[in-house]
Amino acid sequence: MSGKQGDALCLFINGKKVTEDHADPETMLLPFLRDKLRLTGTKSGCGGGGCGACTVMVSRYQPATKTIAHYSANACLLPLCQLHGAAITTVEGIGSSKTRLHPVQERIAKAHGSQCGFCTPGMVMSMYALLRNKPQPTMEDITQALAGNLCRCTGYRPIVDGCRTFCQEANCCQANGGANCCLNGDENTNESGHENPRLFDQEKFLPLDPTQELIFPPELILMAEASNPQTLTFHGERMTWVSPTSLEELVQLKAKHPKAPLVMGNTNIGPDIKFKGVLHPLIISPIRVKELFEVSQGPDGVWVGAGCSLSELHSLLEKMVPQHPEEKTELLRALIQQLGYLGSQQIRNVASLGGNVASAYPNSDLNPVLAAGNCRVRVVSGGGRREVPLNQEFFVGFGKTVLRPDDVVVSVFIPFSTKGEYVRALRQAPRKEVSFATVTAGMRVRFSEGSRTVQEVSLYFGGMGPTTVGAAKTCQAVTGRPWNEETLNEAYDVLLGELALPLSAPGGKVEFRRSLTLSLLFKFYLDVLQKLRETNVIKDELPEKLQPLPREIQPSLQEFQHVPKDQDDQDPVGRPMMHRSAVSQATGEAVYCDDLPQTDGELFLVLVTSSRAHAKITGLDVSEALKLPGVVDVITANDIPGKRTRVMFGYEQELFAEDEVVCVGQTVCAVVADTKAHAKRGAYAVKITYEDLPDPIFTIEDAIEKSSYFEPRRVVAKGDVTEAFKSVDRVYEGQIRMGGQEHFYMETQSMLVVPVGEEREFKVYVSTQWPTLAQEAVAETLDIQSNRVTCHVKRLGGAFGGKVIVTSILASITAVAAWKTNRAVRCVLERGEDMLITGGRHPVLGKYKVGFMNDGRIMAVDYHYFANGGCFVDESILISEKILLHLDNAYNIPNMRGHSAACRTNLPSNTAFRGFGVPQGLLVVENMVNDVAMALGRPADQVREINMYKGPSVTHYKFEFSPENLRRCWEQCKLKSEYDARRQAAAQFNQQSRWKKRGVAIIPIKYGIAFAESFLNQAGALVHIYKDGSVLVAHGGTEMGQGIHTKMQQVASRELHIPTSKVFISETSTSSVPNTCPSAASFGTDANGMAVKEACEILYRRLEPIRQKDPGGSWETWVREAHLQKISLSATGFFRGKDLYYDWDKMEGQPYAYFTFGACCSEVELDCLTGDYRTLRTDVVMDIGRSINPSVDIGQIEGAFTQGLGLYTLEELNYSPTGVLYSRGPSQYKIPAVCDVPLRFNVYLLPDSHNPHAIYSSKGIGEPTLFLGSSVFFAIKDAVAAARSDSGLSGPFTLDTPATPERAFLACASPFVKKVPASKPGSSKPWALNI
Ligand SMILES: Cc1cc2nc3c(=O)[nH]c(=O)nc-3n(C[C@H](O)[C@H](O)[C@H](O)COP(=O)(O)OP(=O)(O)OC[C@H]3O[C@@H](n4cnc5c(N)ncnc54)[C@H](O)[C@@H]3O)c2cc1C
Ligand code: FES
Ligand code: FES
Repeated sequence: MSGKQGDALCLFINGKKVTEDHADPETMLLPFLRDKLRLTGTKSGCGGGGCGACTVMVSRYQPATKTIAHYSANACLLPLCQLHGAAITTVEGIGSSKTRLHPVQERIAKAHGSQCGFCTPGMVMSMYALLRNKPQPTMEDITQALAGNLCRCTGYRPIVDGCRTFCQEANCCQANGGANCCLNGDENTNESGHENPRLFDQEKFLPLDPTQELIFPPELILMAEASNPQTLTFHGERMTWVSPTSLEELVQLKAKHPKAPLVMGNTNIGPDIKFKGVLHPLIISPIRVKELFEVSQGPDGVWVGAGCSLSELHSLLEKMVPQHPEEKTELLRALIQQLGYLGSQQIRNVASLGGNVASAYPNSDLNPVLAAGNCRVRVVSGGGRREVPLNQEFFVGFGKTVLRPDDVVVSVFIPFSTKGEYVRALRQAPRKEVSFATVTAGMRVRFSEGSRTVQEVSLYFGGMGPTTVGAAKTCQAVTGRPWNEETLNEAYDVLLGELALPLSAPGGKVEFRRSLTLSLLFKFYLDVLQKLRETNVIKDELPEKLQPLPREIQPSLQEFQHVPKDQDDQDPVGRPMMHRSAVSQATGEAVYCDDLPQTDGELFLVLVTSSRAHAKITGLDVSEALKLPGVVDVITANDIPGKRTRVMFGYEQELFAEDEVVCVGQTVCAVVADTKAHAKRGAYAVKITYEDLPDPIFTIEDAIEKSSYFEPRRVVAKGDVTEAFKSVDRVYEGQIRMGGQEHFYMETQSMLVVPVGEEREFKVYVSTQWPTLAQEAVAETLDIQSNRVTCHVKRLGGAFGGKVIVTSILASITAVAAWKTNRAVRCVLERGEDMLITGGRHPVLGKYKVGFMNDGRIMAVDYHYFANGGCFVDESILISEKILLHLDNAYNIPNMRGHSAACRTNLPSNTAFRGFGVPQGLLVVENMVNDVAMALGRPADQVREINMYKGPSVTHYKFEFSPENLRRCWEQCKLKSEYDARRQAAAQFNQQSRWKKRGVAIIPIKYGIAFAESFLNQAGALVHIYKDGSVLVAHGGTEMGQGIHTKMQQVASRELHIPTSKVFISETSTSSVPNTCPSAASFGTDANGMAVKEACEILYRRLEPIRQKDPGGSWETWVREAHLQKISLSATGFFRGKDLYYDWDKMEGQPYAYFTFGACCSEVELDCLTGDYRTLRTDVVMDIGRSINPSVDIGQIEGAFTQGLGLYTLEELNYSPTGVLYSRGPSQYKIPAVCDVPLRFNVYLLPDSHNPHAIYSSKGIGEPTLFLGSSVFFAIKDAVAAARSDSGLSGPFTLDTPATPERAFLACASPFVKKVPASKPGSSKPWALNI
């Protein structure tokens, strides 16, 4: 802390005054809330404004209008010092389980919108802030408000449905013109005419009563109205913050300190400080300078204060548009459109207009429109005031403008348009919303009065270089020419020449970006042509009118079965019971690992990782780090008292690299310090020197060429493939590549290791799916017995397979630090570190040769799979095995052969991820079937049906099963989705539409449940009944959002015949249930459910004599009596699962307990001019036996589907040519957001299905539906095929995944793509590797 005395900072948090005498300018609101005030409900998911987990509401009094503004904001980017005079509301401030829930909290929880719950407080606060401003929002308001809040578990549908209950409008299918409306009863009744059960009962919700909200603190109003405000200064350890009150003072300060940034929204400066380590000794905050917020309208346009937030600008423009004739508001409307897509609501609420202009992002959305619209800025500096045009000369380099360092932008002038002038904003981004654009553009054209001759045109692009660029030559070529195709065709050539990009251009996607400039210009051309026609300037026959993609999310159906009529009312099994922690999660009370309070003397650990992909370590110098304030120690391999490596499949993985590094991101050492900030600075100061080793291997092709594999490689075979190829009608060879996937669990890897202080005992609080593995790893590393290590897992904020192996290694490293320092040590990875270090789903290259008959029968396939395993073996071999075990999917192909290999490369080690190889393996299978259909010119569903298992069947590993329910799912899915009619409708649509195409696809799945490694199919439970009748259940499963604790509570409730309210599950602990298996393989409920059931049965039997003696007694009296009779009220249960196995030599076995079946139909609409698409509708039918909890199971289905949709169409990892991961946060890596939810998303649980192999006839469902997200991929492929046929192309074609807008656009092979000359191979290194 600085010795200098600054001002006292005053703000209100949840109605309470907080005064901070030593506010540090480096402190953001988020750590202040969490660490200082212990308000841990607000979560940290990314730290950079990209995930919404930290959303709070800010309220400020505005003296000029005497109103109070409430807005949502990301606490991770809000500097504490900026909040003097503000009132903050966090999730804890709006309601609690102890007092009263806020209706938003209640509705999100009861609508099943909270699974792991890590995103829930942020969702709640985004919705709360909306309701404070608009108690009866529209669906559009809701989707806008939630657009910046990511959820990795739910798939958003339940969150949206919970929030929808606040809408007053009739927002059902009827309101949206659907023929088969949910209100007319048809869809909501089952075959026997009874109403289908619902997931939640809206009628019981608390009403929203705006009068109950916290009032704005009167003291802050007085403060804001004070006539003589003073400059505020805050001094921190390394930074000083000055907040002047007048423009004059601001200009003086800037003149004196030209290098000091002006911080407004901090959305540009904040991420720079945080992620790039930029240090600003002085920060100037102009937030109290009222000239920067003034708005003045004149006859020619409007001057908008540079301090106005983008949301304020948006509302201002929306208010102005209806006040003026349409012809004057062209630019205003273009800006409104662009602002609707710029960042999230939280970002727009704080980011300022001046900040956006001055930041000069190369892909800024506003700047091209402002520039095309002839805007100008008014600046003031010591030298006086002046106006500067926002044009080509304004943007001089990356993040640089012509403004002088001491210039302050006071306002921006936005002119009115004139008659005959048209302005448009166009953009294309990796995700439809909350995503920086790939290419963004502002275009303006003015015609001579009443003619189509161009008088003036202005075209500006973002994303086409280091700055916003103007296409001056193109404009010149068009000026004076008629607005017609001939002019346009010439303009394309000039534009291509003018906006060239080298292959190595940062951001990659060079061909796409270049083609986009053309197709966006074409869009502009068509739109203006329409206008010329509407205004009777031209009479031409027009091409189709381009409409935006549909976007309104409609109510969906979730169909499941009633419990049997004779089931006891108290028995919860089969009912849609809310996740047992949903209320705690929605109130922010739920405790995650990093929410645990700090213990005395606790230290924080930050990893130091390799910056080279393959190199010898020649030196490690920690001396500078050790000198820094707060740094306590640097931990290296030499500090490990026990085993320095973990061994898997005979391959060793070092905890700390000692002599050699094998990937960027490998841990070399770790710094422990008194605070996270100090540990981070320490980690920066560690110096590692390297000597690069030759030829690192990154791609699958490299690995194949160099035979770099983890052994063993596997083969399966059925029939005689070689022979079969001789007698088939046709043979086709194809391939598909699948990119990897980042887990992006919302809670990053987190752990806290506490030395007990005696007898070498350690308590490990860790967010892991497998506490036993973490326990073992810590014990082996510290060379102590497992009985000294207790792992505690309360809950995980998502895991998806990513919190098993790597977590045990991180826990071991943290334990070494705790051992060495004898102090508690916490390690919580930042999002960027987590993404860099922990690996994800394996990228896969799948090649196939298929032989088939002209009637569609597939007779033989030969598959070759290559998975990029990264640098350590991890679970790569098991994953490559599971790929082969699912080689058949739903098809009975008589001759099949599959080879799979896990490639060893110099990338971070890839690991388990929901589906464990099946989503990769099956994509190749389905792509092969799709290719056969395309080669035959037949609909793919017919080829699927022809080859699907029928009657008693045997898999390729000689396992007998009945595919009846697979067929039923398929048929039901076709029926429910109205597949045939919709395919026809799509074909008709495609005939009439050149630039938008629809695609429909239906995909089946057969998914094997349980672990092929027999010993993992076991589970234990421990159940205690206390004297008051309450029951404590412990079992081996971990709660990571999948609802296992809720289901176990239901099991105990049924078996003990008591209400669920008497059953509690506190945590998963290795001291309660030893030697557990991972919560994985969709097997957690099957295994632990049986163990809990057995323990409860034992206890219930023990009470039997007492119950018989006192049949009229209550549970409590029986329990008390049992205690008096000295009957043990504690029992363990154990489940010994089936002896599953697979013999790779004989190629046979029973690797699975049973199959979960399903089918899914999706329809998309694709914009062929940008590659954007929207999923119009998805229908999933799943056979999950008798669901124990339909709301939890439907949640798993929707969540996994959405993760699959992300995998196959959106999520893209990019590595540099030297193996450095670029995509290290939500800004660069896009997981599905609210905008990606299918507009109708119906889920049906197959009725009348039973499963003798699992508890209560249920089936595992955690993983299977992830693959069904591929239905969206195949629907996109179908739409692309329609576009290709317009370009004269037919037959199979390659479309790799993820089918991003880039890939879809290029595959459409439109004339715009063909115009761009292909980059010469070898001309320069591409920006990113295709791993
Ligand atoms: C998660 C996220 C998503 C985003 N998405 C988009 C997007 O889709 N499209 C897009 O275009 N942008 C996007 N942005 C960028 C965002 O719009 C800009 O960061 C923002 O507009 C900058 O404004 P600010 O007030 O936060 O600037 P600050 O960070 O406060 O300041 C930025 C810079 O501007 C200077 N500055 C600020 N005000 C003035 C002034 N009055 N005079 C002179 N200099 C000044 C400062 O000195 C500083 O150098 C995103 C940002 C984030 C964090
Ligand atoms: S933590 Fe603030 S937006 Fe992600
Ligand atoms: S419930 Fe949304 S991230 Fe887990």
